[in-house]
Amino acid sequence: MTARRILVTSALPYANGPIHIGHLVEYIQTDIWVRFQKLIGNRCVYVCADDTHGTAIMIRARNEGRSEEELIAAMQAAHERDFAGFDIEFDNYGSTNAAENRELCGQFWQALRGAGLIVERDVEQLFDPVAQTFLADRFVRGTCPKCKSPNQPGDNCSACGQTYSPSELIDPQSTLSGATPELRSAKHLFVQLQQLHDFLSEWVENSGALQSETANYLKGHFLSDELRDWDISRPAPYFGFEIPDSPGNYWYVWFDAPIGYIASTAQWCAAHGEQLADWWQSDATEIHHFIGKDITYFHTLFWPGMLKTAGYSLPTKVRIHGFLNVGGQKMSKSIGTLITAEKYLEHLDPSYLRYFYATKLTPRVEDLDLGIDEFADKVNSDLVGKVVNLASRTAKFAHALGLSETYPDDGGLFANAAAAGERIAAAYEACDYSRAMRLIMELADAANPFIEHAQPWVLKKDPAREAELRDVCTIGLNLFRQLCVYLSPVLPRLAERCGELLGDPITRWAQSQQPLTGRSVQKFTHMLTRVKPEDLQKMIDENRDQAAASQADTPDAGTAEDRWNDSGQPLADEPLAEEITIDDFAKVDLRIARVVAAEQVPEARKLLKLTLSLGGEERRQVFAGIKAAYEPDQLVGRLVVMVANLKPRQMKFGLSEGMVAAAGPGGPDVFVITVDEGAQPGQRVH
Ligand code: 2FM
Ligand code: ZN
Repeated sequence: MTARRILVTSALPYANGPIHIGHLVEYIQTDIWVRFQKLIGNRCVYVCADDTHGTAIMIRARNEGRSEEELIAAMQAAHERDFAGFDIEFDNYGSTNAAENRELCGQFWQALRGAGLIVERDVEQLFDPVAQTFLADRFVRGTCPKCKSPNQPGDNCSACGQTYSPSELIDPQSTLSGATPELRSAKHLFVQLQQLHDFLSEWVENSGALQSETANYLKGHFLSDELRDWDISRPAPYFGFEIPDSPGNYWYVWFDAPIGYIASTAQWCAAHGEQLADWWQSDATEIHHFIGKDITYFHTLFWPGMLKTAGYSLPTKVRIHGFLNVGGQKMSKSIGTLITAEKYLEHLDPSYLRYFYATKLTPRVEDLDLGIDEFADKVNSDLVGKVVNLASRTAKFAHALGLSETYPDDGGLFANAAAAGERIAAAYEACDYSRAMRLIMELADAANPFIEHAQPWVLKKDPAREAELRDVCTIGLNLFRQLCVYLSPVLPRLAERCGELLGDPITRWAQSQQPLTGRSVQKFTHMLTRVKPEDLQKMIDENRDQAAASQADTPDAGTAEDRWNDSGQPLADEPLAEEITIDDFAKVDLRIARVVAAEQVPEARKLLKLTLSLGGEERRQVFAGIKAAYEPDQLVGRLVVMVANLKPRQMKFGLSEGMVAAAGPGGPDVFVITVDEGAQPGQRVH
């Protein structure tokens, strides 16, 4: 088999914030895949970079009294330190502010201009006359035009949920200077994406680069319509690259960010005597992007459009993952679950998180949940209890005796686990790490009873049984090593310790197929210790207290009681209904369903058309009166509660086969009932 040539990227983290455990889902996911590819002998290069441009960086640098360059250099150093702390190993880590990126952006720009895709238009936006900058939505606050709550953000009201544009706020204020912003018009440059519609439709449909749920989402939401022009420039002042043929205008951060993938590769090529074209303009190279579901649009429409126009290779795969929840809830600073990489490393071993995420990651775009007890249980029972246990119970005896000269009869354990290698490799290749970990733990489950039964600690007491003891330890350590090879993409440190123990570094997948014999064994040192749920809780508490301390400095923090001072109005408006029996309730069959597609019904004023999955092949089409409250793409992927046994109703636009549970009086004030991730479509709601 000839080695594949593979270029891999993770999304470029913004330079304006620290890395946290939510980000790490992706970097760990990618790093595992890259380590696996290298282990099986493919040529694989993993590049990333800091995403450095934009208004937020400019403002922060200004507030901190240093240059943007100083700020991004400090952030990059912190990011690289955090990644290294989690054993995430890039072949090159660059910056979107690098000279290579500016040069490539120029090339892409020429290509877009040359293809006649760029147009100019005036855009109206709020401008801060004191800070002398146009304001992104989040830099404006004011009174909600609907419910009149003061001090609301520029895009939606935290009190009533209304969405609006910042120019609709009453008494708007710039959060940068406190000044009243003015509405100003400025020239912007747009890419006419619609001209690439045919190409993108074809690519989404037929390239095989996208998970089917993503392809369906794009087809249903964007490609079924005209593609809107993409605003690709920002007027000065802006921290970024000035557009060479449009002085005073800068490329929008989302233009130069993905080009940063190529720029980072260019740096790697320069350092290794390679040609960039071999990696980005050659059919012999696969390109795999790992990203989160929130940036799907950029990577599956804009980016392929840009690549195609500029004559670069299209991604072989865009691998999209879901978000991290902690304890069934969105990560939150105030609860303490938005844990930075740095804070985690103060308390816990990175291997725990790498393994835990691996057990949770599948090829699907699903959110994953980190529960404290589950985390501790997985680490303790799988890694410490099943894997390291094999070594800790045998290595100390083997240290004195060495391994047997020939591999003893183990009842087929080693051969059986060697044969499982292909299935495990296929699971890694497909990014189905959850399956890979299950398969590996099945092997550990088979190996442990052998040691239990052979009782090396008893054999040790009888000098006449030394040869037997050596054989038992040879088997135990070889089964341990085999698991370490299989786990090495996830747990490089454990693999390294195993290599040291047996004097044979783990560098190739093939090492799982051949036992080691006739060699000495080093002294056993601790490899992984048990984690205590209290340690995790302590980390969360400390994080929460720190967040609270820093919040206390900001005005308007408010106590929990203030925030929960709920009005009695809704109940007064709609008093409780007549009492029913449990049997009455049981007639309503409420089920968990996942929204697998959501689309506008252009002719309907209030309705969205939802396709709900009840698990497996079961689908229901439901028309829901939530158009004023939700964009279809906000709903796709969500778990909802549906009334599943409602008699189907023929509506003007089609058959509605149920109802989605929602609260609120209607119009924009409708709130779809969300279910914690972990519930399964098809489950009954009691
Ligand atoms: O969403 C983000 O965090 C962006 N900084 C990701 C950029 S990915 C790529 F396109 F550069
Ligand atoms: Zn409001």
